[in-house]
Amino acid sequence: MPQPRILFVIGSLRKGSFNQRLADVAAKHLDGRAEISTLDYRDLPQFDQGEEFPAPPSIADAREQVSQADAVWIFTPEYNYSYPGTLKNLLDWLSRPLDPTFQDKTTVLTGKKVALTSAAGKSAGAGVRGKLTEILDFLKSDLLGRQVGIVLPGEAFVTGEYEPSADDVKAVELQADELLDSIG
Ligand SMILES: Cc1cc2nc3c(=O)[nH]c(=O)nc-3n(C[C@H](O)[C@H](O)[C@H](O)COP(=O)(O)O)c2cc1C
Repeated sequence: MPQPRILFVIGSLRKGSFNQRLADVAAKHLDGRAEISTLDYRDLPQFDQGEEFPAPPSIADAREQVSQADAVWIFTPEYNYSYPGTLKNLLDWLSRPLDPTFQDKTTVLTGKKVALTSAAGKSAGAGVRGKLTEILDFLKSDLLGRQVGIVLPGEAFVTGEYEPSADDVKAVELQADELLDSIG
């Protein structure tokens, strides 16, 4: 039987991203039970409503990857109590209907199962998760109820190293299991 496909979206483009580190924890836990891939959206163009039809090839490819996935799992930092601009740019591209006449308003995010995780400062990413929840509800995605917000230890910002605690790992593993159950 084919394994469910989960597409990871990392909200940070930073080499050594702590959110990427959490995604690695999730991937390890799901190993052998789900097919994991990560969306590379670093070089997508800035959204331009005049360039939607036909969509640039990189946008069409990103949409195809989302469309083919059974779930999308976003791991993201919080920037100024909100989402990184690059992530919002991606969501704006993904939020547009594929039908140029707009008679069919379906997008690749309509009904898509989406999970949210954030490693951030003291807010545990409450700001970015709250705002992404609003957007994804607006887009009629199917959000996983369990979200994970992790307060990064202060020393991670000093050393540039983050080793998830046992509690952090457990939280991500629980979320992974729930996500898998929801699409299985
Ligand atoms: C522009 C900018 C704004 C930030 N704003 C917040 C914030 O509002 N809340 C917070 O918890 N952390 C904030 N941070 C700190 C990030 O949470 C932290 O740098 C985190 O490690 C970034 O995630 P990454 O390791 O996956 O790149 C901000 C960082 C940057 C660069």
